Parts: sequence; C-alpha cells; structure tokens
Amino acid sequence: MDITATQLETGSAGTCAQDRMDRVDRVDPLDRLIVALDFPSAEPALELADRLQGVCRWFKVGMELYCAAGNSVVARLRERGFEVFLDLKLHDIPNTVAGAVRSVTGVGASLLTIHACGGERMMRAAVEAASAPGAPRLLAVTVLTSMDAAELRAVGVGDAAGARGLVEAQVLRMARLAVAAGIDGLVCSAEEAPAVREAAGPAALLVVPGIRPTGVEAGDQRRVATPAGAIARGASMLVVGRPITRATDPADAAAAILAEITSAD
Ligand code: C5P
Repeated sequence: MDITATQLETGSAGTCAQDRMDRVDRVDPLDRLIVALDFPSAEPALELADRLQGVCRWFKVGMELYCAAGNSVVARLRERGFEVFLDLKLHDIPNTVAGAVRSVTGVGASLLTIHACGGERMMRAAVEAASAPGAPRLLAVTVLTSMDAAELRAVGVGDAAGARGLVEAQVLRMARLAVAAGIDGLVCSAEEAPAVREAAGPAALLVVPGIRPTGVEAGDQRRVATPAGAIARGASMLVVGRPITRATDPADAAAAILAEITSAD
C-alpha cells in the first residue's frame, strides 16, 4: 500500500522523510521499519544502531532507554542521521501531557506517542502543544499489543463480547477518539489495522508493533503478525524490537524483514 506524503509529514526533525515522500511514488521500505531500541543504556543502543547503518533509518526510543539516557540518546541518533520515534506513551492529566510534549519539542524526535485512553481532552491538549515548531507528530496508542481480551476485561473494558470483538471494539473506540482530537496517527496491532484504516482514513499513519517473522517467538506480545501480514493489512510503518535486537545477526534479520516488507507492498 502506498503512503501519502502527509502520512510522514513529520516535525522539523523529519524533514528528510518528508522530502523522500515528495520525491518517490512508493514509500522507501526504509521508512516503513522502525527498530525498537529497548536497552538499559545508550551504549548498546548506539552500538546496535551503528551496526544497522544503511539497513535501518528509524529507531524507537522507548521508556526503558529514555529513562536511562534521556534526550542525549535522541541527539546522538540524530547526529548519525537517523529518524527517531520517541515512544513515551504519555498518559496523565491534560496540563501535564501538554507540558511533556513541550518539554520534548526541539529534542529531535519526529514521532511521539500518547495513550488514547487518557481521553479526548488530554489528546487535544497534546495536539495543541504539538502545533509548535520543532514538535514531533503525535501517535495515539489504542490498545497495547501485549493485551488480549482477558486482560482488557480485567482492567474493566468490555464484558460479554467475543474475544476478538472486544479488543477490536476498544481499539476502534480509541482510534475514533484520537481522530476527533486531531492526532496524526495511531498505534494498533495488525489484527485491527484494516478496521482502524477504515475508521481513520487513508491519510492516517498506522504504526504497528507486535511483529514476529515466521518462527520467532511472541514473548509477551499477544496480538502478533508477520511483517508481510502487517503490511498487507494496511500498516504504514512496523515497529520491530527483539526479532532484530536479539537476533544473532541483527543486520541480516533487519534485511530479511525489509525484503518481506518490499515484497508485500
Ligand atoms: O520486542 P518487540 O518487537 O515486541 O517490541 C515491540 C516494541 O513496540 C516495544 O518497544 C513496545 O514498547 C512497543 N509497543 C508495543 N505495543 C504497543 C505500542 C508499543 O509493543 N501497542
């Protein structure tokens, strides 16, 4: 599936991605793969990023690495020419989330996550804060890909619906709220991607984690798909962590995933 220019219209840090979108009809596969740098400190994260130079362009800094290394690891990734997705999954009162968005503005990240379940007012406050120059584009996390229907019920979501229906209904509810709040894109699993695409429209950036190439164990993830399966279901970008970071040869693993993305597109 093609991604429109607006889908990767990122903040100042993402100007290169925007330029690439303007130049090509089909999206460069390098702009469809985000490697999750889930490491406890900057050194192993940067070492892996360096090993993936030329194979990967986007890296995700999540809460483990950000709590340990903060803005400096984002800056060091940017110095190396990489695009950064800051996956902080912000979830707090509107004033605090807006403040956090302002605090990371200008740091160099192109994308930033907030939790849709923080509600529409929280998301609107974040959107307003992200309208400043240098702010990252916002993605709303719908339902974590590690959660299944039983876990959703345990936190008070849903009741009698079938397992699949329950998760999809909640994902859609969150997606619609996020769209109404003016969020740029959504994070969901490949399972709900077609329904989310229908609800959010062709311009929404759909970022899909829970990616497991055939034969790779799911670990704590519950709603998983292969790279080709996720692209076929309408994902704009895939987030891949352990299948690359824990592979014997991470560059080989990333190249195989890129090949799968290309062939499924
Ligand atoms: O190692 P793995 O491929 O499972 O990593 C997936 C990454 O995507 C993790 O960094 C996780 O925090 C993130 N993520 C997710 N599910 C979401 C949102 C983000 O797994 N709904």
